[in-house]
Amino acid sequence: MRARVALLASLAALSLGCWEQNSAEWFAQMKEQPAVQALESGPKLHPSQPLRPPAGTIPFGGMEARIASPLPAFTPEARALPNPVANTPESQARGKYVFNIYCKVCHGADGMAKLDTLPVAQRLAKFGAQPVPLVTVRGYTDGFLFTKIRYGKPLMPGYPQIPARDRWHVVNYLRTLFPTGG
Ligand code: HEC
Repeated sequence: MRARVALLASLAALSLGCWEQNSAEWFAQMKEQPAVQALESGPKLHPSQPLRPPAGTIPFGGMEARIASPLPAFTPEARALPNPVANTPESQARGKYVFNIYCKVCHGADGMAKLDTLPVAQRLAKFGAQPVPLVTVRGYTDGFLFTKIRYGKPLMPGYPQIPARDRWHVVNYLRTLFPTGG
């Protein structure tokens, strides 16, 4: 008899332990919420593509607000962006370093886009996307140039992979190539 009572008691305890109500309406459960699983990624365009980060992922350290416009650099918000990096010799040196990696190939080390010395620019010119001399930067705001580098357009490719701070350094360097008012 004792054994039976004990058995019943433990069965009752077990069934209570396993009880779980399932009505999200009545009482939502914490485990039922959107969650990103390890290695989960968005749809691939091709099986050999690397995994992409799940939609909505924000890079560590935050993200710049996207400028939704066909020509982002020309928007008033882009033009008005203040340059947070002081134009020091260190900043210019860093800007030169980044410019020579990313921009020189099309615009030339002096920014003058002399086609005869730039095979890539020559080739692009054939397709109607000729890199232009950067003398015009004199008339552009820092925010315009910063955003132009990020998005490119209309014909220049964008360079969002250049971190924001480096893009400001490039802007500062451009000011040494073509000083404002010069
Ligand atoms: C693959 C070639 C290519 C590379 C690399 C490139 N550009 Fe350009 N760039 C162009 C072309 C083509 C244009 C003209 C069409 C346009 O504005 O989209 C241009 C235009 C510009 C203009 C606008 C000039 C004007 O008067 O409108 C700026 C400023 C500029 N580039 C800066 C840069 C900087 C800074 C970099 C490096 C981060 C860079 N470009 C890298 C091809 C390139």
